[in-house]
Amino acid sequence: MTDIRFDDQVAVITGAGHGLGRTYALEFARRGAAVVVNDLGVDVHGVGSGPAAQVVVDEITKAGGRAVANMDSVATPEGGKAIIDTAVEAFGRVDIVINNAGILRDKSFHNLSFQELDDILDVHLRGAFYVSQPAFKVMREQKYGRFIFTSSAAGLFGNFGQTNYSAAKMGLVGLSNTIAIEGARNGIQSNAIAPIARTRLTEELLGPMAELLDAEYVTPLALYLCSRDCTLSHEIFSVGAGRYARVFVGDAQGWFSGKGNVPSVEDIAENMEQIRDLSTYTVPGNAQDELALLAPLLS
Ligand code: NAI
Repeated sequence: MTDIRFDDQVAVITGAGHGLGRTYALEFARRGAAVVVNDLGVDVHGVGSGPAAQVVVDEITKAGGRAVANMDSVATPEGGKAIIDTAVEAFGRVDIVINNAGILRDKSFHNLSFQELDDILDVHLRGAFYVSQPAFKVMREQKYGRFIFTSSAAGLFGNFGQTNYSAAKMGLVGLSNTIAIEGARNGIQSNAIAPIARTRLTEELLGPMAELLDAEYVTPLALYLCSRDCTLSHEIFSVGAGRYARVFVGDAQGWFSGKGNVPSVEDIAENMEQIRDLSTYTVPGNAQDELALLAPLLS
């Protein structure tokens, strides 16, 4: 197979000063992309600031690659726009955006403050919106673009102590899905990934498996989804330690109460097994696809 390259393309990676984002930035640069390395340089709780972005840029340029650092926060509309402006000013276009910046504010639901909810929504969900909207406008003009939104098993499946983070991470799936739908006519594709990797964000959470969970395992899938020949969009992937798997939101075939027949509560109770049965399902491509499942039943 010929090498998958990103020559003449521009990749913006948020939170690329550490962990997963750093590995993406290094690999994009190795494969020819010009990279905007965005990072505030904060700690895992979003506190402080530091030169993490510039350190990664230095690593890239020393190896012969092209990169610029950006230290704006994704968590404000101005920051998001400044990140994309950096790409356009330095390299003239934006082909790829990986929304990756992240922090944690873990606490059990009954103890979580509104501030801790906002802090997480601001960086993960609103941050991805603030960065992606100006990028989307550039991509529409170019008629080309690739987005990745970084979700999490905590959002897709739930995780104790992470209600704020889970809500943000599932929100990102919705954001990615609809950007995929709206972007399709202009060559813009969007996918979500749920990584499992040993980084400073997770080093205390992963237990004995941590040593096998190098961030580098996530990188090939992320780059593949951003490549020119990849036609996938509107999908979700779980990735970690060398396991790569599609995750999906599907509709079971369900139970139909009959045209014009409003069932009783007891009817629901009696048919719950069939309502929940997963032996036949579809994965709708959009909300209309789901509505269309009703058509044969109502005709
Ligand atoms: P990390 O802490 O190594 O990297 C996150 C980076 O985001 C840091 O360099 C940090 O400075 C930067 N950042 C934080 N707030 C920012 C802001 N407002 N603006 C710009 N940069 C900011 O963590 P890791 O694990 O590499 O996380 C990357 C993404 O992957 C995050 O979205 C995280 O939630 C997600 N994720 C990671 C998992 C894992 O197993 N490591 C599991 C599931 C999701």
